[in-house]
Amino acid sequence: MDTERFKGRVALVTGGSRGIGRAVVERLAAEGAAVAVNYRIRSGEAEDIVQRLQSEGCQVFAVQADVAVRSEVDAMVRRVRDELGTIDILVNNAGVLVTGDLLNYDAEAFEHMWRVNVNGVLHATAAAAPGMIEKKWGRVVNLSSIAAVGTAFSGTTLYAATKGAVQILTKRFAYELGPSGITVNAVLPGFTLTDMVSEGHTEEEMQQSIEAVARKSLLGRAGEPGDIASVVAFLASEDSRFMTAQFLAVDGGRTDFLTHC
Ligand SMILES: NC(=O)c1ccc[n+]([C@@H]2O[C@H](COP(=O)([O-])OP(=O)(O)OC[C@H]3O[C@@H](n4cnc5c(N)ncnc54)[C@H](OP(=O)(O)O)[C@@H]3O)[C@@H](O)[C@H]2O)c1
Repeated sequence: MDTERFKGRVALVTGGSRGIGRAVVERLAAEGAAVAVNYRIRSGEAEDIVQRLQSEGCQVFAVQADVAVRSEVDAMVRRVRDELGTIDILVNNAGVLVTGDLLNYDAEAFEHMWRVNVNGVLHATAAAAPGMIEKKWGRVVNLSSIAAVGTAFSGTTLYAATKGAVQILTKRFAYELGPSGITVNAVLPGFTLTDMVSEGHTEEEMQQSIEAVARKSLLGRAGEPGDIASVVAFLASEDSRFMTAQFLAVDGGRTDFLTHC
């Protein structure tokens, strides 16, 4: 690992208190970025990761905001600028998964999910972009899902719709921001072992899901948060400087999805 890869860079990771977001925070901080760790309710988890990384000499702090609420996002971005400096790297990771499909959905729950997964990406990117435009450099990495490009997970039609919206926003933001030296790309994780996929399931159900995913994966296993974080870090770095408006599936090579993206 290059501990200086992100030296001098300021990153904001939304939903950094657990799961994939936490792994991204750890990766960017370990490679030298100053990182703001956003959370909505899990202050304990966010403070734990901040304290651990600070004890390792990293520059990190936790910042509360609901990404669905524009005024909170604007205030968060101002606070990051005051504490760490202008944001260079924005990782739009915060997201929720509410199951639901055409014949069985809760309209209110869907609207909540849309506000977090879609409006959240819009609010955070709109708030961070002016600083990046001024610097003529920036990286935006959005967390989509392979659910958005097919029928991989049953019961997730409406979640897939939110991630489909994230993908077109990725392309449109890349179009708008490219002339200012800002790249915008999306990572599409496959089934990744986090609380999002385990909540509400017994250990036995989880084991069955993991085995089913492993059978469909060319690499024979489910994803770990670190598998996703390393690709996010690549897209946040100078190494991906000639890539924008792209969708990268990180799913171990799903045999039922070999033509996605
Ligand atoms: N795990 C998978 O298999 C998988 C697959 C494809 C895509 N993804 C996507 O990857 C991203 C991360 O997923 P994950 O599995 O790591 O989820 P997770 O374990 O449930 O973590 C979600 C994170 O988002 C935060 N969050 C939720 N609502 C928020 C809001 N309104 N404002 C600010 N933060 C909020 C949570 O913080 P608080 O708890 O403090 O609210 C938490 O830190 C999501 O966008 C998800 O859709 C995951």
